[in-house]
Amino acid sequence: MTIISDDSKFFQEKDKSRNTEKSRAADVVEPAVSDFDKSFESNIRPKKFEEYIGQSALKSTLKITIEAAKKRNQPLDHLLFYGPPGLGKTTLASVIANELGTKIKITSAPALERPRDIIGILMSMKDGEILFIDEIHRLNKVAEEILYPAMEDFFLDMTTGKAQTVKTLRVPLPKFTLIGATTKAGALSGPLRDRFGIIHRLQFYTKEELAQVITRTAKLLNIDIKPDGAMAIAGRSRGTPRIANRLIKRVCDYAIVKSDGIVDEKTANLALDTLHIDRCGLDTTDRALMTLIIEKYDGGPVGIETLAAALGEDVKTIEDVYEPFLLQEGFLQRTPRGRKVSPEGYRHLGYKMSMEQKSLF
Ligand SMILES: Nc1ncnc2c1ncn2[C@@H]1O[C@H](COP(=O)(O)OP(=O)(O)O)[C@@H](O)[C@H]1O
Ligand SMILES: [Mg+2]
Repeated sequence: MTIISDDSKFFQEKDKSRNTEKSRAADVVEPAVSDFDKSFESNIRPKKFEEYIGQSALKSTLKITIEAAKKRNQPLDHLLFYGPPGLGKTTLASVIANELGTKIKITSAPALERPRDIIGILMSMKDGEILFIDEIHRLNKVAEEILYPAMEDFFLDMTTGKAQTVKTLRVPLPKFTLIGATTKAGALSGPLRDRFGIIHRLQFYTKEELAQVITRTAKLLNIDIKPDGAMAIAGRSRGTPRIANRLIKRVCDYAIVKSDGIVDEKTANLALDTLHIDRCGLDTTDRALMTLIIEKYDGGPVGIETLAAALGEDVKTIEDVYEPFLLQEGFLQRTPRGRKVSPEGYRHLGYKMSMEQKSLF
């Protein structure tokens, strides 16, 4: 026990020295991007398809689409990527730009609040360039309406004059490609969704794929990692490359201070236990969420608002960050009446289900 508290202190000290990363150990598995990620992600971000691991179905579709666009000398169809944070949506957009040999302009919906923001950026595009809009489900109505003709026929509808003298002007735009990314495809309006040629959900990564991501990152960062060490980290990365990359750094710090700096299975497991990430990659919040449903609500179903209030998290964070992985792993189930912990969830946390609860599954 003393070792654990000692090690926790080690990570907290590290966090302080990093300054930009929050000190809660649980934040290590938070897939949302932090300032710390931004600086180091730019160095390890894949630039070409061959470096972009996994998502093979999507990659083959894209390769064909890119080839065709090049041959026809036409802009690429507009693309929409959706899925939980950290799965590689932004990365994929820049890989596509690289593969096309074109420029990418990266922005996000909250930065396009005023009409002139979106008009300005559209007018600044050149033929064949890519406009990447992150969190595209958050675009306001006005911005969306500006985008419709821009995406469909490459022009802007501008109005000039007042009242009776109002005139609509059609301003042609360069033939750009829009790539949208969102964690919530369902929140996108129908007309906007319809204007994308390809809509694709990014999948969680397998343990083997994550081990490849980890090995690649370790190499770039000069970290000495053994294959069993990479697999141990991969198993606890929630199917998410961003988390895998973050964990490798933390485990490496641990290995340097606590042993010889080599990341093998034993060191990785010790370091990850200290971060309270369990063998399935669940962190303290995941476990608190499931324990709450089991202990206070008899396993559920219970509404998401109630859960959020009890945990002191917001609904969006639970929906976007925690729930997708718990659903995918089958620990949690979504029903019209709320969330339920599954028999696997009970087993994982060491709880027993009553006969009556079992009969409901
Ligand atoms: N397929 C992949 N192969 C290798 N690394 C990846 C892959 N996808 C994501 N990453 C890594 O994970 C980090 C987060 O990816 P990002 O594209 O920012 O996720 P998203 O935009 O979906 O939140 C990137 O910096 C990148 O290094
Ligand atoms: Mg992103």
